[in-house]
Amino acid sequence: MNTFQFYSPTEFVFGKGTENKAGYYVKKHGGTNVLLHYGGGSAIRSGLLDRVKKSLDEENIVYTELGGVQPNPIDTLVYKGIEICRQKKIDFILAVGGGSVIDSAKAIAMGVPYEGDFWDFYCDKSPQVALPVATVLTIAAAGSEGSGDSVITKAEVGLKRGAGSDLIRPKFSIMNPELTCTLPAYQTACGATDIMAHVFERYFTNTTEVEITDRLCEAVLLTMIKETPRVIADPTNYEARANIMWAGTVAHTNIVGVGREQDWNSHGIEHELSALYDCAHGAGLAVIMPAWMEFVYKHNVLRFAQAAVRVWGCQMDFEQPENTAREGIIRFRSFLKSIGMPLTFAELGAREEDIPQLVEKFGIGNGKTGGFVKLSGSDIEQIYRIAVKPELINTPHL
Ligand code: NZQ
Ligand code: ZN
Repeated sequence: MNTFQFYSPTEFVFGKGTENKAGYYVKKHGGTNVLLHYGGGSAIRSGLLDRVKKSLDEENIVYTELGGVQPNPIDTLVYKGIEICRQKKIDFILAVGGGSVIDSAKAIAMGVPYEGDFWDFYCDKSPQVALPVATVLTIAAAGSEGSGDSVITKAEVGLKRGAGSDLIRPKFSIMNPELTCTLPAYQTACGATDIMAHVFERYFTNTTEVEITDRLCEAVLLTMIKETPRVIADPTNYEARANIMWAGTVAHTNIVGVGREQDWNSHGIEHELSALYDCAHGAGLAVIMPAWMEFVYKHNVLRFAQAAVRVWGCQMDFEQPENTAREGIIRFRSFLKSIGMPLTFAELGAREEDIPQLVEKFGIGNGKTGGFVKLSGSDIEQIYRIAVKPELINTPHL
């Protein structure tokens, strides 16, 4: 196991009705003048926003609303949010929504006290200070409610990039699984895929002797395999929603990834798809992650075979562990298909002829990137091509 530091300062407030205490927690964490940030309307339609506002009123906390965050959030609303916060002397940002709203809130939080362009933080600069951010989570997916990450798209150039800092880890996150019951099945499945991908990006590692984090990863994956079909069949199943919601947080605070080298290439390769086609991040991952697995599994067949046995319940083929490794990837694909996820470029609405552009935007030039397997531009191109080829995916196993 590698040396590590783990810092996860967020106060998680979990359970039914917890959104009614939003005002109490804002006050507890020092907020007096709040930017209330939300998305395209689901929080209004469900009545959630009104409940949060009432709870702020009860604590005499003033607030300014900024809605309209779109999935795959863009820079233009971030600039607007920064402007509003400066004008109104906002001291706290409360995000009511999913990963997109939370990430937009985090971008605003870094941008307000910064004299330069907030986009610098998405080009590897580290912030020195940020406004405090907190969340009322409405979808189990990105894990942004517990992470120090934010992903924003620069609309004009179609670049989707991430920023990371402990300064933007939420002060608190309110998590009521009931709020996720209004999610359409497709969004639920996209979220589940993202959660599983966050674990796989950590699971496939070159670091040895990491039994504790291997087992934690497997626990999250097994939970998702059990609970996702339950909520697809019955969207109001509170217990299944609750297990998925906490799995989504555990998957991405990094508690399952400490002390081990990680590999985030599937995410990077996917981000180019959601930047170009504005598809859901989880759907893009359903297309890319198995294609990445196909491309890299021979690097460590036994690690893939371990996942196949422990997570997917495959029988170990001791003479040819490669068969077991591949069977695990096939079962992953079958699972994704069973929850309604796309498996190919075509199903996602992506186009083969855009592959050179996708690779160029990925932006590694002649270099290589990755943890488990370092990939060149031409490797990434091949992964996109595997994701195009239906003959690889439509095997008799599916
Ligand atoms: O905008 P509204 O109307 O709220 O609708 C949203 C949106 O259309 C809807 N929705 C959310 N909660 C709902 C609901 N609809 C009905 N009932 C509810 N309770 O769902 C749609 C998707 O929402 P979004 O916030 O985009 O989903 P998600 O949480 O998957 O976030 C995706 C973004 O997070 C980034 C992704 O790249 C993508 O931009 N990521 C952020 C990470 C992080 N900050 O740590 C890590 C991830 O790997 C990921 O890259
Ligand atoms: Zn993700």
